[in-house]
Amino acid sequence: MEERLVEHHIEKILKKEVTIGIIGLGYVGLPLVLRFCEAGFKVLGFDVDSKKVALLKRGTSYLKSISSSCIAQFIKKGLLDVTDDFSRLKKPDCILVCVPTPLTEKKEPDLQYIEKTTDSIRSHLRKGQLIVLESTTYPGTTEELILPKLESTGLKIGKDFFLGYSPEREDPGNKRFTTHEIPKVVAGVTPSCKKMVTTLYSQVIQKVVPVSSPRVAELTKLLENIYRSVNIALVNELKMLADRMGIDIWEVIEAASTKPFGFAPFYPGPGMGGHCIPIDPYYLSWKAQEYDFATRFIFLAGEINVHVPYYVVNKIQDALNGRGKSLKGAKILILGVAYKRDVDDARESPALAIMELLQKKGATIFYHDPYIPSLPPFRRYLFRLKSSPLTERLLRRIDAAVVVTDHGLIDYGWVVKHAPLIIDTRNVTKNMKRWAKKIVKA
Ligand SMILES: NC(=O)c1ccc[n+]([C@@H]2O[C@H](COP(=O)([O-])OP(=O)(O)OC[C@H]3O[C@@H](n4cnc5c(N)ncnc54)[C@H](O)[C@@H]3O)[C@@H](O)[C@H]2O)c1
Repeated sequence: MEERLVEHHIEKILKKEVTIGIIGLGYVGLPLVLRFCEAGFKVLGFDVDSKKVALLKRGTSYLKSISSSCIAQFIKKGLLDVTDDFSRLKKPDCILVCVPTPLTEKKEPDLQYIEKTTDSIRSHLRKGQLIVLESTTYPGTTEELILPKLESTGLKIGKDFFLGYSPEREDPGNKRFTTHEIPKVVAGVTPSCKKMVTTLYSQVIQKVVPVSSPRVAELTKLLENIYRSVNIALVNELKMLADRMGIDIWEVIEAASTKPFGFAPFYPGPGMGGHCIPIDPYYLSWKAQEYDFATRFIFLAGEINVHVPYYVVNKIQDALNGRGKSLKGAKILILGVAYKRDVDDARESPALAIMELLQKKGATIFYHDPYIPSLPPFRRYLFRLKSSPLTERLLRRIDAAVVVTDHGLIDYGWVVKHAPLIIDTRNVTKNMKRWAKKIVKA
């Protein structure tokens, strides 16, 4: 009987007769919405931000990587509807949760968004619904936090409703891999949950990778991000040592990258940015405490990466000093405030830490970022600044330009030609030996 019911739900997924509900329409949720629409599913998007809902209803995108026409076509076809009315959660057969998982001030998991969403789902849970968490989180969240809340309705897991976890691997700004080309790890709480989750994602993703439990899938995502965090910290530390030794770390990495096995290049930068890699590892270190375990690599990587903006500011100070100038009173142009190349997102960007440190030392800051016209208030920072047009006049007025984000739109050769001094944290001046006297790598 139970198996027949599961087969019935699977049949509906295969025939695309299910409605997909996606909660949290941000960098992760919105591309997923479009992928399901592209594949011919009806999608109902949910967000607490009524401004986003209103924009989407009008067929307008708020993300640089997604065109408005892409959204408008699905709204027009009747495949996509969006709402901030969570009582409509009864409608979707499959609900995917893509809400934020930030840290509290004390670097502890802030699960309020997952908890609130679970409460909304619980209030409307009905037989046959499949719930999948996509947000990055510590191992155990799906089964220890979400499952008990949903079971408190009296409905039975694996029989009346289904629950799974599938981490998102979205890489904003990456044009090489689209959502459906990135393999997706999936897991279910029970075998029937796993079957449902696998079937669902197989309709929209080229390669689905089922694993034995949600905890395995949760830790898989954290391993991917910790791997990046630790390796970035390693090259950042080596960069600081190489600088002291008078060696160009970029040349070293390029040479090491010629090894055809056992080496994957990571590149140093101005510090760790974005809202995944600086944050997610702490979800694991927090959970590890429950097992009397200290995740030393995570803390060490965090410590090194947090230090890099201070190092960059010291390099700026030294470079100015070498020209008989002080940071106090200096006019500094920050080139790029986004947390990485060609994205319009400055959350957790190391540019913000660098700018604050420079201001504290009395420098006057300008910034230019083609994707970020003005700086909104951030969790830890408040700058009342607008992007300055990048002109020869501006470059002549400043004492130094600091390349923090290597956006493809900026002509660095032209910048180097006109600026008095360049502090380069991204190696954009690699082939500019002619201007070596005014270039400082940091
Ligand atoms: N951005 C990435 O590159 C990326 C990649 C992989 C995984 N992730 C993970 O995916 C999750 C979402 O990240 P994101 O970058 O899309 O965040 P985001 O801030 O861009 O989007 C989250 C959306 O959820 C909405 N929201 C907040 N609380 C809500 C609630 N209670 N109900 C409904 N909607 C709510 C917000 O208004 C926002 O639109 C996080 O766990 C993140 O760690 C992000």
